[in-house]
Amino acid sequence: MAFEHLLCVDDENIVLQSLKHEIKTDPFFKNIIIDVAETAEDAIDLAREISEAGDTIPVIISDQRMPVMSGSELLGQLHASYPDTKKILLTGYSDLSAVTELVNRDALYRYLAKPWDSKDLLLSLREAFRTFRQHRQIGELNTKIESMTLAMVSALESTNFFFDEDTGNHIRRISSISGFIARTAGFNETFVKMIKLYAPLHDIGKVGISKEILLKPARLDPKEFEQVKEHVRIGHRIIDDESIDPMAKNIVLYHHEKWNGGGYLEDLSGDRIPVEARIVSIADVYDALTSPRVYKPAIGREESIEIIREERGKSFDPELLDAFLSGMDKPNWPCDE
Ligand SMILES: [Fe+2]
Repeated sequence: MAFEHLLCVDDENIVLQSLKHEIKTDPFFKNIIIDVAETAEDAIDLAREISEAGDTIPVIISDQRMPVMSGSELLGQLHASYPDTKKILLTGYSDLSAVTELVNRDALYRYLAKPWDSKDLLLSLREAFRTFRQHRQIGELNTKIESMTLAMVSALESTNFFFDEDTGNHIRRISSISGFIARTAGFNETFVKMIKLYAPLHDIGKVGISKEILLKPARLDPKEFEQVKEHVRIGHRIIDDESIDPMAKNIVLYHHEKWNGGGYLEDLSGDRIPVEARIVSIADVYDALTSPRVYKPAIGREESIEIIREERGKSFDPELLDAFLSGMDKPNWPCDE
């Protein structure tokens, strides 16, 4: 069973003992282990031992004025290893520069002036524990959502495997190419992670299109093409649930829109097409060109790049296409995997 710890750091043992005594009078802390350290070094060792034992340290409270290493230096250092832990600094008003530095690094939960007010201290500690627990829960829920999405993508891969053996590889490549474009175009790592997760869903609606049309070894007639176009609407219906991220819905619904208009189904253009769909459309078309299909052989890398480049500002957002093509001579270009 994992325990929660509250780590208190002060170079004066008498202060530590009175801090511990005050905290122990509050029933909120009944099941929380209170650890004390008289030096920054001891605090770092103790924190390591606690986490190696599988326990958590929701809160660390430290005095600012200590020999060798100050409280703000200690909390700053611990922040690198325990970013989720809420850190509280006990300090005099003359030490505000240390507080400012920590706040600017987003490493401080709160600071309390010495001598502290007992009520204030206990209130801050309780709030810090509650905030830590809430953030933990949110993190666990997000992990669950991500694994559910991956399970859905993997189920889709298995379904499509019956239609086309290469589809599974296609959707994995779409994921890495979309992530590459997003990162190169300057989107943050959260965006990159999400687009990699959701890009494989773009053709989920193809499960609603007949096998005869999807595997027709020839050009589709206009009526058949109209049916294939429906896969974006079908896909959107499949994932049209308010618990699903709008980014996933935008990719499914808009990945066949074109930068200068004329795509399907809504004939959007330019910035009106959500950026995640503009990214996936480049990845989708490039990968479709370079992969063999029942109705066409694979087209070579150079020729495919030429075809794609021709569509700059027509089918594709010019800036995003430039980001994609800027990587073609680099070793991490995902298209050469
Ligand atoms: Fe599609």
